[in-house]
Amino acid sequence: MGIPTQPNRTKKHTASDIVMTPPKIAEAIIREFNPKGLALEPCRGTGNIYVLLPEPKDWCEITQGRDFLEYNGNADWIITNPPYSIYDLFLKKCFDVADNVVLLVPIAKAFKSLRIERLVDEYGGLRKIWLLGSGTKCGFAFGFPTGCLYYQRHYKGMIERKVDGWDVWGNEVESDIEL
Ligand SMILES: C[S@@+](CC[C@H](N)C(=O)[O-])C[C@H]1O[C@@H](n2cnc3c(N)ncnc32)[C@H](O)[C@@H]1O
Repeated sequence: MGIPTQPNRTKKHTASDIVMTPPKIAEAIIREFNPKGLALEPCRGTGNIYVLLPEPKDWCEITQGRDFLEYNGNADWIITNPPYSIYDLFLKKCFDVADNVVLLVPIAKAFKSLRIERLVDEYGGLRKIWLLGSGTKCGFAFGFPTGCLYYQRHYKGMIERKVDGWDVWGNEVESDIEL
């Protein structure tokens, strides 16, 4: 029998993680979740999400000497497009730090391993899946279904599913989010 794939635990992200959220997608995300209290962008890159967060806010970015995995504070919200190569580590740290966590990712990340299921269950729950379209719509070099996963501490309710950009048959439809 094969050994299950292990997540990257090196704490080192890879160059392929450097993909910035398009400003229009960032705007739509902030509009949708309307964060209140202290908002943290834990890996702000060039800041497309960060600049739109309301005050008070804080940021980390490893290339600017602020490693989120070493962050000591707490936040009401984390909203980001995280580095995928260290996804599990990053998610765990998000849960340690914030009561509300919104991640722009390929949505399959939500159910990728039992380890993630346990992590989410201990934290609270997945409150919303907002499907935005293919990865290319969100600026990524892949076509996997991509969108926002919204996790909330202590949440044990149903998962809301919202779809933007196509109808139930998979046909493209008018979207509020124009790139
Ligand atoms: C996918 S990019 C997204 C950037 C930004 N969040 C956005 O949405 O435009 C991921 C970013 O995470 C940063 N990063 C990787 N590991 C990090 C860490 N441990 N702490 C802080 N930032 C990190 C990378 O340098 C990169 O800028």
